[in-house]
Amino acid sequence: MISTIGILGSGTMGSGIAQVAALSGFNVLLYDVSADALQRAVERIKDDLGRSIEKDRLTQQQADSAIGNIHVHSTLNPLHRSDAIIEAAVEDLGVKRELFKRLDDVLPSHAILATNTSSLSVTSIAAATKRAPSVVGMHFFNPPPLMKLVEIVRGKQTSDETVHLVCDLAQKLGKVPVQCKDTPGFIVNRVARPFYGESLRLLGEGVASVEEIDRIVRLSGGFKMGPFELMDLIGIDVNYAVTKSVYEQYFHEPRFRPHPIQRQMVEAGTLGRKTKRGFYSYE
Ligand SMILES: NC(=O)c1ccc[n+]([C@@H]2O[C@H](COP(=O)([O-])OP(=O)(O)OC[C@H]3O[C@@H](n4cnc5c(N)ncnc54)[C@H](O)[C@@H]3O)[C@@H](O)[C@H]2O)c1
Repeated sequence: MISTIGILGSGTMGSGIAQVAALSGFNVLLYDVSADALQRAVERIKDDLGRSIEKDRLTQQQADSAIGNIHVHSTLNPLHRSDAIIEAAVEDLGVKRELFKRLDDVLPSHAILATNTSSLSVTSIAAATKRAPSVVGMHFFNPPPLMKLVEIVRGKQTSDETVHLVCDLAQKLGKVPVQCKDTPGFIVNRVARPFYGESLRLLGEGVASVEEIDRIVRLSGGFKMGPFELMDLIGIDVNYAVTKSVYEQYFHEPRFRPHPIQRQMVEAGTLGRKTKRGFYSYE
């Protein structure tokens, strides 16, 4: 039975997943290499729970109990009590493989190891451990407290039992699990690559402005957000890393090619909402 969840990485996704898990009554061990990131995560969770109280969606008692369920750690060893891990560190195969290798030594044998990667090979991450059957993809969407879908990604060696356990866990977190095979970008991020790519090409060619493209997509397709609003929410760095990863894993398939605008924005440090500047300003 899963009662304690270790979450690795306390950025946009890790903090959101921690909030969801804590509200669902799980004991949460939140780990990050950056003490600042951990502090910001706790502040972000408190702010978000505060807004839910103001909107009468949550009681003070529920919020206090959720905050009480979250324990932050800047070393990996205290996560040895975890029944399941959800890893949400940076989108970098080397970093994720190294983390999973270290986790293998720390975790009890019954633990499940899930990665929230948006695009990387679950099979390759699993191969860094001695327990590939217990490694699986659990791809949440941004923002985790609001988005219902979780892609459950079955690596080459993932066992049926692991898939069953994470589907059950996703449901206990109030989410809707959808299973798919381990393929670059899985389903959603593969479909989404041309959506961002074509929008960036329109912008690069000067066909229309950021605001105009967003407005047209929202009005014509019934989307809640246009492509540039969405890239700002996701993080330009995260979206660029995902695009590069899908492009490389498909052997430089032109359909998935990243755009120089993305690279330049990452170089400039204008990463979207999290830096208060992206395609839009959030000052
Ligand atoms: N942003 C999104 O919309 C989104 C959606 C779904 C999945 N994802 C995936 O979730 C993961 C995290 O994305 P994010 O948007 O939260 O990124 P982020 O940049 O907001 O946060 C990443 C966090 O990981 C930490 N970190 C870096 N190296 C680490 C390590 N070795 N151990 C532990 N922590 C480490 C950083 O300090 C940072 O706090 C990525 O794999 C990303 O592809 C992102």
